[in-house]
Amino acid sequence: MATTSFMAITMMAMAMAAVSVGASDNNRVHSPCSDTTVARSDGFTFAIAFAAKNSFLYNSALQLSPCDSRLRLSSSNSQIALFRPKVDEISLLTVNSSSFKPDSYGYMVAFAGRKYAARSVPTFVANSSYTVTSFTLVLEFQKGRLQNLYWKRDGCSKCSGKTNFVCLNNQHCAIKTSSCKNHGSTVDCSLGIQLAFSGTDKHLSALNSWYEVEKLRQYSLYGLYSNLKDSLTGQYNKIF
Ligand SMILES: *[C@@H]1O[C@H](CO)[C@@H](O)[C@H](O)[C@H]1NC(C)=O
Ligand SMILES: *[C@@H]1O[C@H](CO)[C@@H](O)[C@H](O)[C@H]1NC(C)=O
Repeated sequence: MATTSFMAITMMAMAMAAVSVGASDNNRVHSPCSDTTVARSDGFTFAIAFAAKNSFLYNSALQLSPCDSRLRLSSSNSQIALFRPKVDEISLLTVNSSSFKPDSYGYMVAFAGRKYAARSVPTFVANSSYTVTSFTLVLEFQKGRLQNLYWKRDGCSKCSGKTNFVCLNNQHCAIKTSSCKNHGSTVDCSLGIQLAFSGTDKHLSALNSWYEVEKLRQYSLYGLYSNLKDSLTGQYNKIF
């Protein structure tokens, strides 16, 4: 286990707004468990951990960052995906499900930072009955430091009229896990995570991509991004 090396996750990003040509990534921090501050043209590394909901709790009560070794996530059944989107660009992250079965984990938490650790609440991904494939994650920065990560509820409007989908708890469109390709059926149940940035960068420039997502939400974002899937999952233990 401990020797499993850590695979970088590739992701595709698409700039919705005009991005200044030549803007470069000056953020040298590539570990999700280190602290950094970013500017708009930088890349930013964060990770998503997949595990059972109670694996994210310390002493059954305290929510800790997966970077906190007290959680001992690496000794539970868990999986990590690492991403490095560009700050303030709308990105769709995907987790390729061909060899990854989210129902064997259950929930996911997005996180980054150590001394200034930030993490999302655990959000339901899949169990043996249902798999949720579409998520929106907002990364909120203040003066370039990550303050908060939160899941925006997508609601169920996207499931209406689609035979493969059911609406779970009025919050998420879900697919029957038994219909997924990774369970021998036909539906591609790869996870898609729409990413947006809000707040300010280290030069106090406003990060606006969240507003773009809000405006675009009335259209099908997944149609827009349908050619941008490219990602892997990797298991890793080094950061814990
Ligand atoms: C799977 O999750 C759904 C939604 O949270 C829940 O209603 C259902 O009972 C769960 N099924 C199993 C087998 O745990
Ligand atoms: C997922 O991974 C499989 C096997 O590595 C590959 O054949 C497939 O093209 C990938 N799919 C996507 C959407 O990246």
